[in-house]
Amino acid sequence: MSCSATACAKVILFGEHAVVYGRPAVALPLPGLRARAEYLPGTSPLSLDAPEIGVTSPLAALSAGHPLRETLRIVCERLGLEVRKGTLRITSGIPVASGLGSGAAVTTAIVRALASAHGIDLAPAQVSAIVFEAEAVYHGTPSGIDNSVIALERPILFIRGTPPQPLDLGAPFDLTIADSGVRSETRVAVGAVRDAWQRDTPTFERLFDEMGACASQSLRALAQGDLAQVGVLMNRNQDVLERLGVSTAGLERIAHAARHAGALGAKLTGAGMGGNIIALGEPHLAAAIRAACEAAGARWVRTTTVQP
Ligand code: MEV
Repeated sequence: MSCSATACAKVILFGEHAVVYGRPAVALPLPGLRARAEYLPGTSPLSLDAPEIGVTSPLAALSAGHPLRETLRIVCERLGLEVRKGTLRITSGIPVASGLGSGAAVTTAIVRALASAHGIDLAPAQVSAIVFEAEAVYHGTPSGIDNSVIALERPILFIRGTPPQPLDLGAPFDLTIADSGVRSETRVAVGAVRDAWQRDTPTFERLFDEMGACASQSLRALAQGDLAQVGVLMNRNQDVLERLGVSTAGLERIAHAARHAGALGAKLTGAGMGGNIIALGEPHLAAAIRAACEAAGARWVRTTTVQP
């Protein structure tokens, strides 16, 4: 039986990078932005149909270390499956290498589609654990925040090595997401921060503490729907990310433009060195914030409402 499944994108609201070093972080799902996997049984050797990432070929034709091949190997091993025949079709509306969790979302969709095609029922925590393993192959030292928020599809507080804690939000809020157009691999940004941390551990530990404090202090503001305070903390988080060395002139130009247009706060999201910014704004300002981001060079902009 053919089976399809989807998975959402995500943003990190507070604490990217610091979360790798054990500090708390807050992540939100983006249910309107999704990756999709569909498994179609067949009699020919398993082939992959993923035109958006340039892969339309039998699995066996991909090089041994190809990310999709490795991902499938890990997923099948963990599900106890041998999937030798049929077609796996992958499509995604999530920009790649831009801090929105595209890789983890694709892997989550694959896990769900293959599990459901084979009658396997998985709890979100099981999906998350499999995706984490696949992420580790490419990102080296993922904290686990991306797979957790995507598998749960709920706002979470995340501390490495502990189960994600679902967060209750006091009010819905609008986030505008704006892409600088620069692709950036998480692995590279995480590696650069690690090198810098090794060169000057005391300074970087202080920066991680500051970011962890933003995440911790945001919990009350989020629960009370105090968006002004959430915005202040987002700007503080951005300031630390700049000192960490993962911001870029392009990201800062877009974030400043969003604030100038009335956003309560704006920061890069995810690994940085490219990718997206997120801006928090009152709904009546969303169009102005989007226009300001575009005028500042953003290539792709959309506003989403985060629901409690
Ligand atoms: C990536 O979405 C967030 C980082 O903190 C890496 C990680 O937590 O694995 C940069």
